Amino acid sequence: MTLFAGSYAAYSAYAASPEATNAVNARKANYKEIGGAFKTINDELKSGAPDMNTVRPSAAVIARRSALQLKFFPRGSGPESGLKTRAKAEIWKDSATFTKLQNDMVSAANQLSAAAAKGDVAAMSAARNTLGGTCKSCHDRFRVPG
Ligand code: HEC
Repeated sequence: MTLFAGSYAAYSAYAASPEATNAVNARKANYKEIGGAFKTINDELKSGAPDMNTVRPSAAVIARRSALQLKFFPRGSGPESGLKTRAKAEIWKDSATFTKLQNDMVSAANQLSAAAAKGDVAAMSAARNTLGGTCKSCHDRFRVPG
């Protein structure tokens, strides 16, 4: 009995590792900022006369934060961690597909940022659509619906 109690204690100590906790917190905060900036851009585009002084910094935020997400999914930070996360275990089973979607997001975000820097609204709309597609593809496959 004592032996079992000991192993459970060891297991939960592992489960709540600081690395996993930090990664989950960091990626949620990062996606939250991305979501906010993406909404700002969508609202501006919807207005028909986007304010470039609003769009440009938001696009830059998404580009910078899209690149950051790559390091926020260490092994052990999935549902098995016991932490509050919507990341599916499939992320680590099919990491090739997950990484590809992350990279697709980075390139779409860079295109959006470049179009915003040029003030090219048509190119911005196209890049926004591509970028939005990467959010959806990844969430549909790798995020628990909430
Ligand atoms: C490569 C996969 C992937 C891509 C691409 C992606 N996301 Fe996510 N997103 C996730 C995962 C996984 C979570 C769940 C994170 C967790 O709960 O640990 C998440 C969570 C979120 C959240 C919730 C954050 C919170 O407060 O808990 C928002 C908002 C979000 N994503 C917005 C976006 C937007 C907007 C885009 C596109 C511009 C995007 N995501 C692209 C995988 C992705």
